[in-house]
Amino acid sequence: MSTNLDPGAVGAPRPRIEGPLKVTGVARYAADVPMPDLAHGWLVTAPISRGRIRDIDASTALGMPGVLGVLDHRNAPRLNPRAGNYFGPDGSMQLLQDDVIPYAGRPVALAVAETPEQARAAAAALRVTYDVEPHDLDFSLEHPAARPASTAFGPEADTGDVDAELSASAVVVDERYRTPEESHSALEPHAATVWWDGGQVYAVDANQGAFSVAEVLAALWSIDRERVHIRAEHVGGGFGGKGACGPQVILGSMASARFGRPVRVVLTRAQVFEATASRPPTDQLVRIGADADGRLRAIHHRPAYALSPLAEYIEWCTEQAKILYSASAIRTQLTAVPLDILPPASMRGPGATPGSFALESAIDEVAERLDIDPLELRLRNQPTVGPVSGLPFSSRRLVSCLREGARRFGWATRDRRPRGRREGPLLIGTGMATTSFGAGVFPSTASITAEADGTFTVSVGASDIGTGARTVLTAVAADALGVGTELVRIRIGDSDLGMAWGAGGSRGTTSWSFAITEAARKLRENLGDPARPVTATVDTTTMIDYRPGRERQTYSAVFAEVTVDPSTGEVRVRRLLGMFAVGRVINPLLARSQVIGGMIMGLSMALHEENVRDPRTGRQTNGDFAGYHVAAHADVPDVEADFVPDYEPQDPSGFNGLGEIGTAGTAAAIANAVWHATGTRQRILPIRLDRVL
Ligand code: MOS
Repeated sequence: MSTNLDPGAVGAPRPRIEGPLKVTGVARYAADVPMPDLAHGWLVTAPISRGRIRDIDASTALGMPGVLGVLDHRNAPRLNPRAGNYFGPDGSMQLLQDDVIPYAGRPVALAVAETPEQARAAAAALRVTYDVEPHDLDFSLEHPAARPASTAFGPEADTGDVDAELSASAVVVDERYRTPEESHSALEPHAATVWWDGGQVYAVDANQGAFSVAEVLAALWSIDRERVHIRAEHVGGGFGGKGACGPQVILGSMASARFGRPVRVVLTRAQVFEATASRPPTDQLVRIGADADGRLRAIHHRPAYALSPLAEYIEWCTEQAKILYSASAIRTQLTAVPLDILPPASMRGPGATPGSFALESAIDEVAERLDIDPLELRLRNQPTVGPVSGLPFSSRRLVSCLREGARRFGWATRDRRPRGRREGPLLIGTGMATTSFGAGVFPSTASITAEADGTFTVSVGASDIGTGARTVLTAVAADALGVGTELVRIRIGDSDLGMAWGAGGSRGTTSWSFAITEAARKLRENLGDPARPVTATVDTTTMIDYRPGRERQTYSAVFAEVTVDPSTGEVRVRRLLGMFAVGRVINPLLARSQVIGGMIMGLSMALHEENVRDPRTGRQTNGDFAGYHVAAHADVPDVEADFVPDYEPQDPSGFNGLGEIGTAGTAAAIANAVWHATGTRQRILPIRLDRVL
């Protein structure tokens, strides 16, 4: 029996539409599409972090069987140097344009051959020599090149007098927290199958937004966007690592232009680590002052992150300090440190994930010093309006998450003193954390056709990176049209379907659903017309109000129980529970799947993940799944996740955002639980054995 209280398809727990295609191998990914006359490209990457290419000797490679040629900076097609994205020109995409090596892993050549094996052999036979220059990967907040980060995502907070409030505080926590460089580690490596035809470029590519990739590729080639056709029908995970126009499609388009054949470029796992993107390391100072009764007087959050001089980037660690708590003074200072590092990109709750690790650890430390329950401390400091903006909140169901999570977890019986629970040799601890993540909507287009047979075809340039976007959008369209889902056919993952936001920033579903809902409304007005097919197309660009009117966020409360073996330092997560407020839930089955995945990523961040670089070369020494540990099945307990009833009033359907909120907050909950078990604070991630002992 269904317990679904929504009258329509939205709210019903339906499995992924394309699930059978995936498990039977029918679904084609970017490296799977059959293509006649296909050639294969293999990347060669720089083993140094800074310098210049002295020479590339391709003589051996060019004589090898099946080799069509080698592309490098001397013979590659020229790209438009002004091509970029949101922040302006992006040098990370200017591949094979000059002899400069700006980071280890920079592609320096592409060997092209009849088979992948021949291309790999040719790549291995290239002799590349370098003039090595000293590199700088010495990341810290005090780095001499540290500078204020871009405020393009919003101004810094500077309310009240932080120093005066800290002086007047009964307790002050003033601590430093660090998170390492991390990699996205999507299961499907970056891959593209690319071909040119009649001055137009076509690609099946692994990305998180086909339209934006098409826009960037068009800019790189200085051709009209209409001449670029990107398909990304099935994508094996992204987490931000496939948000950009990736090296696979840039190099594939260059090789295809050069050799006049379709070219497939598939990155190896090691190349995904070294040549795509990572989450930058962070080094964060947090100062919090509170009265003896737990009222917060001051929050000062000063995080630094690393970036590459090739491209501007914001790891927005400071957003939660402006949202989560009321305090008389709140100050944020986000700092960027340019280094000779792989250009970073958004990863799994960008900013919020490392930022809330620091903030929510520090809040736990305040509770410890005041001897107040950390859940109670949070409840005492809930703001009624945006603590910095002064704007009213849109739906803010954080207290419901806290109370319901605490009830289900059994928090009330917790003895808050550390190191008080043992089971045999193991120390047991529990901890919790909260977080928020910004939500909203971006312009998209959608078309709906009422077909002659009574069915409906919905076209939207959405992207399904494994989340179930197809399935939820089918439900949204069915309800908007007032028909059953069996009458709705959905087309996504194609730049020819029109302008659309990508699968990112937890804003895909709201953005696409808004366009679909408006297109359905328009179509229904025309349905009196007996002539079929009838199509309605909507572009939401002018329908979106960007004036800040309300604080619009999603929220979570995460609770963790850990065991710590004091003789080995091993931490195991025994229970993990998350309560989430994400607006109206479209599909509880898929929503739960997403936040559980996010929480496991947070667990993985807390205990395992870390890019390790050799200081001599700057190369990552653990850039594969043997060396870069992600949580495996044996690391993951039974994860519980659920949603509090919520409805976002700024969205016509009550939707808000889902995805990143699953990850952010989890690492702090686990670190706080490790403190409770051991009495020792873990301010550096990951919580490795040697840091526990
Ligand atoms: Mo998400 S990190 O915006 O893919």
